[in-house]
Amino acid sequence: MNVVLGVGGGIAAYKAAELARALQERGFKVQVVMTAAAQEFIKPLTFAALTNQKVITDLFAGRSAEETLSSAVEHIRVAQENRLLVVAPATADLLAKFAHGLANDFLSTLYLAFDGPVILAPAMNTNMWNHPATRNNIRVLSERGHVIVEPDEGLLACGTVGPGRLADPLHIAEIVAQAAARRDDLRGETLLITAGPTQEPLDPVRFISNRSSGKMGYALAEAAAARGARVILVSGPVHLTAPNGVEIIKVRTANEMRAAVVEKLPEATVIVKAAAVADYHLADVPQQKRKKTAARLTLDLEPTPDILAEVGQRKGDRLLVGFAAETENLLEEARRKLVSKNCDMVVANMVGKEGTGFESDENEVILALRTGEAISVPKASKRRIADRILDEALKLRLALHATR
Ligand code: CTP
Repeated sequence: MNVVLGVGGGIAAYKAAELARALQERGFKVQVVMTAAAQEFIKPLTFAALTNQKVITDLFAGRSAEETLSSAVEHIRVAQENRLLVVAPATADLLAKFAHGLANDFLSTLYLAFDGPVILAPAMNTNMWNHPATRNNIRVLSERGHVIVEPDEGLLACGTVGPGRLADPLHIAEIVAQAAARRDDLRGETLLITAGPTQEPLDPVRFISNRSSGKMGYALAEAAAARGARVILVSGPVHLTAPNGVEIIKVRTANEMRAAVVEKLPEATVIVKAAAVADYHLADVPQQKRKKTAARLTLDLEPTPDILAEVGQRKGDRLLVGFAAETENLLEEARRKLVSKNCDMVVANMVGKEGTGFESDENEVILALRTGEAISVPKASKRRIADRILDEALKLRLALHATR
């Protein structure tokens, strides 16, 4: 598989040579692209010798008009010929350019023209890494679906100790290999994913809802689409943009979500119910706004349809993944729901814990499987958790088919 290794201008640029070698040892054909700053730290010749390929050093620099013309679309060619882009070291400057879509050199232009998986391995001074601008860029890039290989902590070239050191090149190469293996492994599948909360109206201006942000379901939709699946995303009201290439059906209430899921079920091969569906709704919603009175107000709520349980009854050969948001007895509850709703996997996450669960960009989950196995997935971005859930779902299907 052809991959591009983008090298940014930082002290860690020399470690990119080790990465180039590690990638080649794993069978990748590596096209190196260096920024002008990178060339201040390490010579293109090193990479040319290691990869046996011409290193791309800039868009226009030092070229005649004819050369410029013939290479004017080189970034498009490179974008088309390579299946994966890894940038190491990804400097604060490169992260900012990528996050904001600036395209003023070969690497940043290539980034915009490239539509495959992107892996970014940042390296910089601790203060730069911790700066709100960098934090924000990392959040944007990670939400865009890129894999961020977190820098290591340690003594940095500037003399300070803290996070900022480029991750071990062998570790980066391993992550590239994983991403390469995932590419297109869901082609031919149709994933029906639900996400976000539902809103159950109490009158024309009020509703009951919950704290779900939809981030986990959207991360799953994005991951599945990036891996070649057709994705139908049934989304409750959230403040998120649908990932590229995903078919979105926007719903508000549990009843609307149920109707969309039931309609699309025949098309799906895998169903992932990440939505936090409200458990109760008001049977008769008044047409007019309720007026405040001095009297106490009692609402007569009735249960909403349990969509997951219904899908569990009708799923046939389809793989069904449910979610369980719990405040206690995580695995026990997940296993109970696995059986009672006839799921193949239940993704359980502890809610009410600092830094994970609702609203957070990160999560930490346990996967309870039909095979009886339980897998702990340590804290990571929801996008990475999404890939892990999809990995395990694919493995599980193979295991279930083997036992049939
Ligand atoms: N779910 C559903 N329809 C509902 C309620 C929940 O499809 N009316 C699905 C959710 O999408 C999720 C799973 O059921 O995949 C578990 O949701 P959760 O709220 O944790 O479970 P409940 O069944 O509501 O159980 P409990 O309230 O007892 O924890």
